[in-house]
Amino acid sequence: MKKTDFLPCSPLPSMATPMGLFSCKTEQSRNFLNGVWALIGDDLTQTEQRMQEMLSSRYAFINSLTSYLERFRGKMLRPALVHLSARAFGGEAPAAVETAAVVELIHWASLCHDDVLDDAQARRGASTLNVRYGNHTAVLAGDFLLACSTERLVALHDPRPLRILTLASRRLCEGELLQISARHNETLDEETYFEIVNKKTAALFAAAAELGALTAGAGEAEAARMRVFGRHVGAAFQIADDCLDITGNETLAGKPVGADLKNGELTLPIIHLLRGSTPMKRHEIRRLLRPESAAGAVLTELLERNGSLTYAFNAAEEELRRARAELASLPASAAKTALTDLADFVLQRNV
Ligand code: FPP
Ligand code: MG
Repeated sequence: MKKTDFLPCSPLPSMATPMGLFSCKTEQSRNFLNGVWALIGDDLTQTEQRMQEMLSSRYAFINSLTSYLERFRGKMLRPALVHLSARAFGGEAPAAVETAAVVELIHWASLCHDDVLDDAQARRGASTLNVRYGNHTAVLAGDFLLACSTERLVALHDPRPLRILTLASRRLCEGELLQISARHNETLDEETYFEIVNKKTAALFAAAAELGALTAGAGEAEAARMRVFGRHVGAAFQIADDCLDITGNETLAGKPVGADLKNGELTLPIIHLLRGSTPMKRHEIRRLLRPESAAGAVLTELLERNGSLTYAFNAAEEELRRARAELASLPASAAKTALTDLADFVLQRNV
């Protein structure tokens, strides 16, 4: 990994986002990424090398699939959480590398499957695996990644990572299944939305932060606090992701916007908008939500006028406030500062 890979925010055109919410605050993002790089850049490089070893196959086709997946590599937030959490408890890289690599493999596996479920065409500016190789191959590639991660987990001398990550994977599946069952449900309530978010996204962030602490020898109570920290960060991340799906910039995001609405998935701003509308207004909104309506700009304007994007932003902020509270008892350290910065970063990103 080159240092520049950690600098996704070059000077940007202003986002279409109302009031600058969920926009990329370039300098802050850059500072965070540089800070993290200085602290755990080597750990992340080792993590990536380990992932390559874990995925290495004797079959050229499988190697071509796993190298194709590398173009979807993001900021490695989950491995960063493992490493920073470990360092916050005095841990060193070697113990955390194996776990961080496995966590990222599970994340990649979930993306392979997610893109099939969402019929997604692009991720990070490249054609998804399902577009490039077809659904069958994409599903099996996800299974392969998951099997490789399990193989490594059972080889560890500690049963806890296997237990924690099996449970997290189960939660990811539950979240996705819950999301499918809620598709096109215009009466979807906020509680169910948060349940989906906590399962499909926050569960893996939670596991990453908990495992980092455990690999550094933290006690159960300390690790549980890190798990709660990770869960809140993950929830804020997904709320931001859902808002970017409405207000984001396709070129910057590297994936089409409006995918959630196209798939009938109601996210927090829409839930808020529908809740505060009269039956007549709700009828109009329902029309705008139809996949064929192509009324993105009208909908964004309505969401803005109704304060629904601000509402979602505040909900994400509240998640981050709760996340930061979990760090209060940690002694001051560069890792603790970076964990706080990482939490803030999830609302400053634009991809
Ligand atoms: C992205 O959500 C998807 C997830 C956070 C989780 C996907 C999980 C599964 C498909 C279950 C299978 C799990 C395993 C472990 C194989 P999104 O679609 O809202 O975000 P996107 O815009 O990045 O696609
Ligand atoms: Mg998706």
